[in-house]
Amino acid sequence: MGTAIASNILKSGFNVIVYNRTADKTRSLVEAGALKATSPKEVARKSDVLLTSLRDDHVVLDVVSGEEGILSGLQQQQQQQQPNRIHIGTSTISPSLSSQLAVMHTAHGCSYLAAPVLGNPSVANEAKLTTFVAGDPKDIERCNRLFNAYCQKVINIGNEHASANTLKLIANYVLLALIDLMGQAYALGEKTNIDLQLVNQLIGMIFGYPGLQQYSNRILTRDFDNVGFDLLSSFKDVQLILQTSSDARVPLPYANSIRDKFLAAIANNLETKDWITIYEITRMLAGLKK
Ligand SMILES: NC(=O)c1ccc[n+]([C@@H]2O[C@H](COP(=O)([O-])OP(=O)(O)OC[C@H]3O[C@@H](n4cnc5c(N)ncnc54)[C@H](OP(=O)(O)O)[C@@H]3O)[C@@H](O)[C@H]2O)c1
Repeated sequence: MGTAIASNILKSGFNVIVYNRTADKTRSLVEAGALKATSPKEVARKSDVLLTSLRDDHVVLDVVSGEEGILSGLQQQQQQQQPNRIHIGTSTISPSLSSQLAVMHTAHGCSYLAAPVLGNPSVANEAKLTTFVAGDPKDIERCNRLFNAYCQKVINIGNEHASANTLKLIANYVLLALIDLMGQAYALGEKTNIDLQLVNQLIGMIFGYPGLQQYSNRILTRDFDNVGFDLLSSFKDVQLILQTSSDARVPLPYANSIRDKFLAAIANNLETKDWITIYEITRMLAGLKK
């Protein structure tokens, strides 16, 4: 991801200085015109804006606060009374570390922007990532041209750094659940001798169905009384799905979870509401008040 992001920043005309633990991986960037640094500290010392793409919380913290890390380079700049430097964190890290990084950078007289990205390396190669950005609005504004060098969509989340990382995790949770759900559909199809091309077409149809976005909108507004399919009738379908799952010996874990939530909804007299009322049980389990 880092190579693709840096490559697009370079193509946009910025001066780029790169560092990677395995130095050889920066070769293509150096051949394309980037300068090479020997530590994160050196990059920080020589840059107005610094961007990291690293594996996880542990690595980010190490690269930021280690002896040859980013903050030691940024601190030197502060001592030289240079203008406010910005660190853009694109890695997928915990919301709590994101908040902590913001505090650490402020204490060193510099800024941290949380800017996790959505999109895989081939999307990154085409400069078509989406980024959720949080931090000081002036810093976000200052980095706008840079974000546009590697992203097709920049979503400003506001001041709360952690929120950008939480949103990234929500995105990955939805994607992971859908990927797993698709796999379960193929497994059930294969086990019951259905042509998997038909399952493929069906999944395509469901994702292309405009009603899907409408469900999301109605969940957002908790529009449960506009009943298209009542919860009790759809409970019958959940039981049929579970029966088919048992008959075919294909575990369908979401169906079990949905059955339990439907039971809770029925026990709470919600059976005549629309089937999206399952959301009420999710809210209840999360301790969200009416
Ligand atoms: N791949 C995706 O589709 C995707 C999409 C969106 C977001 N992300 C996120 O973007 C970040 C980078 O992902 P990636 O796919 O590019 O991962 P990657 O190819 O594994 O790159 C991870 C980077 O972290 C460095 N690193 C790992 N351990 C280190 C350590 N102990 N000290 C110093 N550097 C270390 C690696 O250096 P070396 O080269 O020396 O190993 C490499 O530069 C992750 O947070 C990931 O979750 C990935």
